[in-house]
Formats: sequence, C-alpha cells, structure tokens
Amino acid sequence: MSVKSTLKRILPIGVFERIKRIANGRLSLYGMTLTQAHRFNKAYAKYDSTGICQIAARMTFFTHQIEKGLSHTNFRYGFGHKPLQYLKDAMEKYQHADASYESSVVYQSALAALHEYAVRHEGHEEEFAFARSLFPGNIWRAAAQAPVTCGGSLVITAESKLHNASLTFSELSENRHSVREYSSSPVSYEEIKPAIDCAMRTPSVCNRQPSRVKVILDPKQISSALQIQGGFGGYAMPPALILITADSRVFMTPQEHNEGFVDGGLFGMSLLLALEEKGLAACPLNTMFLPSADKATRKLLDIPDYENFVMYIAVGHFPDEIRTCRSTRRNSDDVICLIR
Ligand SMILES: Cc1cc2nc3c(=O)[nH]c(=O)nc-3n(C[C@H](O)[C@H](O)[C@H](O)COP(=O)(O)O)c2cc1C
Repeated sequence: MSVKSTLKRILPIGVFERIKRIANGRLSLYGMTLTQAHRFNKAYAKYDSTGICQIAARMTFFTHQIEKGLSHTNFRYGFGHKPLQYLKDAMEKYQHADASYESSVVYQSALAALHEYAVRHEGHEEEFAFARSLFPGNIWRAAAQAPVTCGGSLVITAESKLHNASLTFSELSENRHSVREYSSSPVSYEEIKPAIDCAMRTPSVCNRQPSRVKVILDPKQISSALQIQGGFGGYAMPPALILITADSRVFMTPQEHNEGFVDGGLFGMSLLLALEEKGLAACPLNTMFLPSADKATRKLLDIPDYENFVMYIAVGHFPDEIRTCRSTRRNSDDVICLIR
C-alpha cells in the first residue's frame, strides 16, 4: 500500500487534505527547484567540461567575444587577450573531442573570427603579436580558408532597413541582427509603443500573459541599470531601454514556476522582431543577475518581488552604417531529432 493511501485511511480527511496541499505545493516547488539545480549543475559548460556540447558552447562564447571586439566602432588594436586564450583552449579541446571538427559550423565560425582578427590587424604587427604567437600556424592557415560568412563582423546600413515593413517574416528574421551602437537621435515612447502593441499578440500559457514591460527613457536610469547589468561595457548608452519581467501572480501551480521565463522570452522575441519591422535597432541584454545585482536592479527600477527578470532590450535608431557580430547559426540538422 502506498504512503498516500495509508495516510488517507488513517488520517481525518481535513488533515489529509492539508498534508496533500503542502506536499503538492511548497514542498514540490522546492523539490522541483532542487532537482532542476542539480541537473543544471551536472550539465553546464564548466571550464574543465569534456563533453562536445559544452566545449562547443565555450568556443561559441569566446568567438562571440572576439566578434564583439571586431564590431566596435572604436576598434581597439590588440584587443581580447583573455578571450583569445580561452578560445584557443576550447578549439584545442574541440579538435580532440570531435573527429569531424573541421566541418563543424561552430569551429568554422571561430576560424572566421580569427581570420578577420588577423586581417583587421594588417599593418599593426605589434598589437597582433600576441594573437599570432598564441595560435599555431596551421590554425592561421585554416582561418584564412574559413568562409567569411561564417563568423566575424558584418556591416549594416540604415538604408537597408528602410523597407523592413514590407519584408516577409523569413526576410525580417534573416536580416535582424543585434545592434549595440545607435545614432545620436533620441527614441520616443510613441516610436516604441506600436512594437509593444504588436508583441501583445505573443501567445502565453492559458493566455495568462505574465509579461510586464518597463520602457526606460531617462538617461540616468538607463546608465545605472546597464552599469549593474554589466553586459554592455564599452558601448555608448542606448537612447531607450526596455525591461521585460514576468509576473508570478498569474500562475496557479508550483510546476508553472518557470513558465514566466518561457512566456516572457517569447514576448521578447516578438518585440525584437516588431522593433526591427518598425525600423528600430535593438539588442536583447541578459538579466542573469547574481543576488546583489538582482537586489540593486529591483531597487533602482522599483521591481516587486513577484516579478522575475526576463531580459532587457536596448533600443535606438540605426546609424548610417554600423558593424555588428555575425553570430553565425548552427545548421538545423545539428539540433533536430526527428521522431517518426
Ligand atoms: C536573452 C538574451 C540575452 C543577451 N544578453 C546580451 C548581453 O548581455 N550583451 C550583449 O552584448 N548581447 C546580448 N545578447 C545578444 C546576443 O549576443 C545575440 O542575440 C546573439 O549573438 C545572436 O545574434 P543576433 O541577435 O544578432 O542574431 C543577448 C541575447 C539574448 C537573447
């Protein structure tokens, strides 16, 4: 006989129902959270992870760091010693972990970023010396062969965005890129509001619509918020900043406790595409806060405990011409598992 049926038989019905509620409520919430933490802890890409997936993730992360450096308007010759070292480490590990590493998009992307790093340093041998000596000659030779479209930076023009409203969904998706540097013209609430209206069509679980949106136009608040956020270093402040949070009060059971991140993430994607369609440049920014940053941001922007941070989105107008990261995507075959 199960514990449940034994308890049901021996306890008065009121007491049994209370125990059941506690077990299915708070206990299961903490239990699920611990299980989730345990699974995450076993899987995430630590420095000494040996799995292909984790090594590839670290390679992508450090490739992205290089791409960000390559796309800065104020290009800093010789940038990125640390990311280059970590990238080298990840590339070496990947060569050992994956027999077909040479054909991997992730690896090719790293090579393409390195190639652009070398090309952009032509005539700046002194600043390039560190990177040159860090990677062996065969890597630089392979980098020179990597398709340019696989990694590095690309240039976006404001003119190319003029007809965004007439693009198909595929074209809009294909041409949207995170843009981190904006023209000097301000962005008004009236320009942003139609994009938020459009994102309101985002589906959510049982249509409970947990997403909440803060539109921050005050330069001081933007600067303080992004200083705490920490992932926008080296860029001028955007003229507008949006914060998406998820309101936990719309959820009804403990197993829904992550749903706000799902619904809020979907909302964020809709909003990014809507901003793009309306000709505004944007970049999602993480709100993966440690407790001190969480607390400071809540205080700064007056965010109640019942709202969870989902993401920021920096918004501005496209400058006439701007570089950004290519952020090459893996092939869909790499992520699809077909069950039939
Ligand atoms: C939730 C989320 C958080 C992100 N956080 C940051 C960030 O803190 N700083 C940053 O420069 N880019 C950030 N990005 C932008 C990613 O780097 C970018 O989306 C990715 O490289 C894909 O490139 P794309 O947006 O140009 O397609 C974030 C993106 C997402 C979706």
